[in-house]
Amino acid sequence: MGREKVATTEEIASGQGKLFSVGGRAIAVFNVSGAYHAIDNTCPHRGGPLAEGSLDGSVVTCPWHGWGFDVTTGECKLNDAVKQETFPCAVEGNDVFIDV
Ligand code: FES
Repeated sequence: MGREKVATTEEIASGQGKLFSVGGRAIAVFNVSGAYHAIDNTCPHRGGPLAEGSLDGSVVTCPWHGWGFDVTTGECKLNDAVKQETFPCAVEGNDVFIDV
C-alpha cells in the first residue's frame, strides 16, 4: 500500500476518533489536541471497535471491556505484552494522510 488521504482535519474533532477503511483494513484516526494518530481499529482483546472508544489525553478506552491503548504508540495500558499496530499519520494543509 502506501500513503492515502483519509479525511480533512475538520472531520475529526479534537478528542475524537473516526473509523476509516484503508487497503482493506479498519483504522481508527484520533485527534489528540490537534495531532492526528492512526491505530488499528480492532481491539486485540475480542475485536472491539477502538474508534468508538472514548479518548482521554492520548489513551483510548475500548468500548467493549475497557482496555486502554495509547494511540500515539499502540501501547496497551493493561498488558505490556500487547502492542496495537499504529500507522504514520501526516497533515498537509487541511488533509490527513496515513501510510498503511
Ligand atoms: S474487545 Fe476491547 S477490551 Fe475487550
